[in-house]
Amino acid sequence: MKVSTLALPFLASTLVAAAPAPLVESNKLRRMLYRSNLKARATELYNIAMRNNGTRAWGTPGHWETLDWIESQIPKDYYNVERQYFNISRTIYDEVSVTVDGIAATEVNGFTNGPNGTISAPIVNVPNFGCEAADYPAAVAGKIALVHRGNCNFGLKNALAGTAGAVGLVVWNNDVQPLQPTLGTPDLYNVTEFVISAFIGQAEGQALVTKIGGSSLPATIKSLFHYEVDLTANVIATTKNGNQNSIITSGAHTDSVKAGPGINDNGSGTIAQIEVAKALTKFSVNNAIRFCWWAAEEDGLLGSEYYTSHIAEAEAAKIVMNLNFDMLASPNYLYSIYDGDGSTFESPYASTGSGMIEKTFIDFFVEDGKTSVPTEFDGRSDYDGFLQIGIPAGGVFMGAEGIKTEEEATLFGGKAGQPYDSCYHQACDDIKNLDYGAFITGAKSMADSLAKYGRSIEGFPFPRPAAKLKPRRLEGATMLPNPKKGKHGGCSKKLEA
Ligand SMILES: *[C@@H]1O[C@H](CO)[C@@H](O)[C@H](O)[C@H]1NC(C)=O
Ligand SMILES: *[C@@H]1O[C@H](CO)[C@@H](O)[C@H](O)[C@H]1NC(C)=O
Ligand SMILES: *[C@@H]1O[C@H](CO)[C@@H](O)[C@H](O)[C@H]1NC(C)=O
Ligand SMILES: *[C@@H]1O[C@H](CO)[C@@H](O)[C@H](O)[C@H]1NC(C)=O
Ligand SMILES: *[C@@H]1O[C@H](CO)[C@@H](O)[C@H](O)[C@H]1NC(C)=O
Repeated sequence: MKVSTLALPFLASTLVAAAPAPLVESNKLRRMLYRSNLKARATELYNIAMRNNGTRAWGTPGHWETLDWIESQIPKDYYNVERQYFNISRTIYDEVSVTVDGIAATEVNGFTNGPNGTISAPIVNVPNFGCEAADYPAAVAGKIALVHRGNCNFGLKNALAGTAGAVGLVVWNNDVQPLQPTLGTPDLYNVTEFVISAFIGQAEGQALVTKIGGSSLPATIKSLFHYEVDLTANVIATTKNGNQNSIITSGAHTDSVKAGPGINDNGSGTIAQIEVAKALTKFSVNNAIRFCWWAAEEDGLLGSEYYTSHIAEAEAAKIVMNLNFDMLASPNYLYSIYDGDGSTFESPYASTGSGMIEKTFIDFFVEDGKTSVPTEFDGRSDYDGFLQIGIPAGGVFMGAEGIKTEEEATLFGGKAGQPYDSCYHQACDDIKNLDYGAFITGAKSMADSLAKYGRSIEGFPFPRPAAKLKPRRLEGATMLPNPKKGKHGGCSKKLEA
């Protein structure tokens, strides 16, 4: 008797623990997600930023604290959690200046990825926007070109100036809003190198144009910088149950820009993954689910690129698909889905698998009584690295700095003619910036796709033929900021020109 009363509780708890969790079902998983939890997590993330100078940019204490916080949220009995450390080289400007006729400009910025150095030469005006070779007069040879911002990329202006024989380039702003301009890489413009350049403010630029007129003035551009290597990390959590040879990955990025707390961008994706990962522990899955929290998206998708360019081929072959969750709570949102089959926007990335993922998301929104629209599948987000190694991808995006059209306002409500997220990359991207109705819908779209594919990948093109596995592009231990990989932000005029 005594023996059995003692043994009983032990036995009962063993039995309970041994009872297999039910196989995941979309509607059951979705029902376990609550707005109140999303809001609570957003507040926690916001408080992390506020404790750390208002930012969670990679390399800052706010980002490391974000990683610790994510790890603290993930149930370790259900997931294998690892941190993937990697180095990034960042540019630190030592001196950036533009001096014309002995007067130094006050509002000057260096071009990211411009050359390092000093150049002194007469400065001359270039008419129009300097987007055509014909804009550059013969007189520009051996001189510094002064060009207005607008109509084309900074890289093109620089390449055309250099091709015309200019030894330097000063671009002046066409807006009062300051900008950290970026050049991209010379090969994009068929030149071997850029000329030394700097970016100055609108008022000073306008005054210089008038002062120089059809003549020239002595000028000096200094753009001096050095590189510093900084450590950061991705956080990766994989379910212990489910087939470890057929893995569904889900990604969001953990860093904000320097300018703000980044609660929509991309706290929202980070938070939705935490809540879905927690809810999933009540179920079992047939295919393993791997949540990836990428670092350094804001510097050119570096976290996801590091992961996909350093993964062993045999490991890459186990990944069925990559789902990408972007700004899931934009205040003036639209529900857009990557056009994986390329039926609306022609795309070199379109594939059968990516088309099937798109269809899964379209079906979710229909079932949830909502509308969705396709968005360009252009590789300008963290799914890019996966596509590069032949892994199909898809996901949902609710809009960044792009402007909502009349048609979109009819479909989704909100304000036409206004940005989807007017706080994009700013200090006001805080807890009040989120639309929590859109947020819960976004989190549910994540739960739905993970539940469906966690149950079954029947009909999905997997395993992939070995020939489809593209060679990896190993970049060594240190990642360089990649200006070519902008984020998907709609028609991002600010980034382009
Ligand atoms: C906040 O910024 C100051 C000044 O840049 C710096 O000294 C300090 O270390 C920063 N603190 C945190 C927590 O990032
Ligand atoms: C990062 O760089 C440091 C210093 O160069 C080096 O000691 C360290 O091993 C690197 N870490 C990784 C993960 O590459
Ligand atoms: C660079 O060269 C390629 C191939 O000739 C051409 O298609 C492309 O338009 C050129 N780009 C620029 C910016 O001149
Ligand atoms: C840039 O030039 C300065 C001055 O010549 C030099 O000290 C510095 O090391 C250079 N930076 C890089 C990244 O080469
Ligand atoms: C949010 O995170 C996703 C997944 O990493 C990424 O693809 C996307 O670009 C991010 N969104 C923004 C606007 O930064």
